[in-house]
Formats: sequence, structure tokens, C-alpha cells
Amino acid sequence: MKLIVTGGAGFIGSCFVRMLIRETDHSVAVLDKLTYAGNLENLEPVSDNPRYTFHRADIADAEAVDQVFADVQPDAVVHFAAESHVDRSIFAPQDSINTNVKGTFTMLEAARKYKTARFVHVSTDEVYGSIDEPYDADENYPLKPSSPYSAAKASSDLLVLAYFTTYKLPVLVTRASNNYGPYHFPEKLIPLMISNALENKSLPVYGDGMQIRDWLYVEDHCRGIYSVLEKGTTGEVYNIGGNCSLPNIEVVKRILAATGKDESLIKYVQDRPGHDRRYALTNEKLTKATGWEPRMDFDSGLTATVQWYRENPGWVQRVKSGEYQKFYDLNYTSR
Ligand code: NAD
Ligand code: TYD
Repeated sequence: MKLIVTGGAGFIGSCFVRMLIRETDHSVAVLDKLTYAGNLENLEPVSDNPRYTFHRADIADAEAVDQVFADVQPDAVVHFAAESHVDRSIFAPQDSINTNVKGTFTMLEAARKYKTARFVHVSTDEVYGSIDEPYDADENYPLKPSSPYSAAKASSDLLVLAYFTTYKLPVLVTRASNNYGPYHFPEKLIPLMISNALENKSLPVYGDGMQIRDWLYVEDHCRGIYSVLEKGTTGEVYNIGGNCSLPNIEVVKRILAATGKDESLIKYVQDRPGHDRRYALTNEKLTKATGWEPRMDFDSGLTATVQWYRENPGWVQRVKSGEYQKFYDLNYTSR
């Protein structure tokens, strides 16, 4: 099978591409703009493989996207490309709208024109908004996104599903919980806290630190997406959760323990505006349909992740030294 993978130079997309090249016979064409979050170093392990090609393009640029579809003639698309960070979407919402909404629309139009046989749209549990105890969201839970990021993702989910209803485009939507693992840009909770702890810098905890997230190891997420690509029913939505709910402060304390650092590094800072209190998912639909289940337990996944960051300080320094990152640090994260 020939696949186009958008956002394949990012954290989760690159894990998916490395997995496909390592474990399947598929050909993979990565379509990526290489924003601050896209990094060809993440794809170095597959760069010499003849089944891998790289196409630099903006998914919101219809002409450029059309050219990639014309070159590749894909059997399937797995659509990861997005502005993926909530804090950045608060700081610069237009990027979220342009990439997550308009970019998804452009991809759908190209898939329709080229009669792509399967279109997997990678989405997030954040579209459900904050979920009160004791409920876990299933796929029919109402959409109530809180941030520009999650509102843009929810909008794109609706657009994708409308293409199934209206045009019979064979789409599938996945909604995963918070991922962690190697190659994660050090702006999200886990990689930021690990890299700060390793550099003896303070660990900024928003508000009271009692917000709850469900943690999913990135390889488990990629196996889940692949099982949906292979076995999912078109027009359907599948949650992909890690069965691992933890308050942020507990995650931070486990990172300090895993890095051998003291809890005095914790610094409570101003809360994020519109901060969702709790995310929680049920995976039953995906497990029933495909047999998928998360394999990695949190402490083993965290140990493997900390080890990767210890072994790759050069990667961390290089991704943090980009111009856009410096601009963002100066204007948003200096608190
Ligand atoms: P990431 O920020 O690490 O990577 C995003 C990738 O998309 C980068 O390679 C970037 O260059 C590319 N990109 C951004 N804008 C683009 C554009 N206009 N055109 C082409 N390429 C563009 O993101 P991630 O954490 O790997 O997330 C991937 C997907 O998974 C996103 O759709 C996100 O919403 C979803 N998701 C992420 C998580 C998580 O915890 N990180 C959880 C659930 C779902
Ligand atoms: P994040 O990794 O940004 O993912 P998301 O907002 O998509 O869930 O944040 C995870 C949680 O960690 C969220 O509740 C916000 C919190 N957080 C902090 O407390 N401090 C930080 O420096 C960051 C980046 C996040």
C-alpha cells in the first residue's frame, strides 16, 4: 500500500513512519511543512529506505498538496499534521485555525479528487472538553472544546465526518489521550519537565497541579492508529486511551524521582486560561473492533522516555534553539 502521512516529521507522525517502515511493506510519503515542531532528525532512522520519500509542503496550500497526491497516488492518507500545542494556540490562534481546519479541508478535497481509499484523521480527546468525575467519554460524548487548539480539532473532526456523509469519502477518526515518549518537543508537560529536571531548572506547574490527564505511550498510540487503518469501519470515530489517569503534580513528582532530582525544583505558576480539569476516555469500541489495547505501563514508559532524553541532549538543544521557539519563549513562557 502507498500512504501519505501528513505531519510525519513531528512527534507522533515520525513514530508512526518509523513503525511502518520497520514493521510493514508499505511505502510512505511524508507530507510536512517542517514548522518549529517538524524535524527531519526524527526520520533519520528511515531516511535511506527506498520505501520512504519526503515532500515539504503546507497542507493548507491546495496546489502543493495536489502535486504530492499526483506524484504519490496514495491508497491511504494518515493525517497527523496540526498545530498541536494548547498554549501556542492561546498565544497564536490563527495558526491552529489555518492548519487544523483549513489544512484538513485541503487534505479532504485532495483525497476526494484522487479517490483515496482510506483517510484516517488523527484527533484528540480534548474535543470532548473537561469531563466530570466519574464519567469517561465514549465516542458519542458531546463535543465541548475549550481552547483554540481543541476547537479547531473538533471543527476538523466534524468536517471529516461530513465528507463521509456527503461525499462517501472513506474516512475514519481517532481521538487519543495525551501521548508521551521519545522525540517529544520539550514544550508539552512530560518532555519539558524531563529536560528542565535534567538541566536543574524549575518545573512550572500550572495552577494547583491537580488537573487530570490520561497518558498513552506514543508507540501504543501508533499501533492503535494502524489497527484503525487496517480494521476500522469507515465513517466511525475511535477513542485511543492509555488507561492511565494521573494528576499533573503526580506526573511531575514521578519525573523528579526518575531523574533523581529534588521536589524543590517544583514551581507553581499562573494557571493556563480555560484550563480543562480532567480528560478521561473509554477504549471499549476500539478494543472490541480490533483487539487493540495499550501495552506500556506508565512507569516503564516514563523510564524509557527519561533514558532517551538523557541520551539525546543534542536533539533537545537543537529543537529548542529555533528562532520561532526563542520568540515564543520570550513572549509567552517567561512567567
Ligand atoms: P507535533 O506538533 O509534534 O507535529 C506536528 C507536525 O505537523 C510537525 O511535523 C509539523 O511540521 C507538521 N505541520 C504543522 N503544520 C503543518 C502544515 N500547515 N502543513 C504541513 N505540516 C504541518 O504534533 P504531535 O504531537 O505529533 O501530534 C500529531 C497529531 O496528533 C495532531 O493532529 C494532534 O492533534 C494529534 N494528537 C496529539 C496528541 C499529543 O499528546 N501530542 C494527543 C492526541 C492527538
Ligand atoms: P500539555 O502537555 O500542554 O498537553 P494538553 O494541554 O494538550 O493536555 O499539558 C498537559 C497538562 O500539563 C495540562 O494540564 C497543562 C499542564 N502543564 C503544566 O502544568 N505545566 C507546563 O509547563 C505545561 C506545558 C503543561
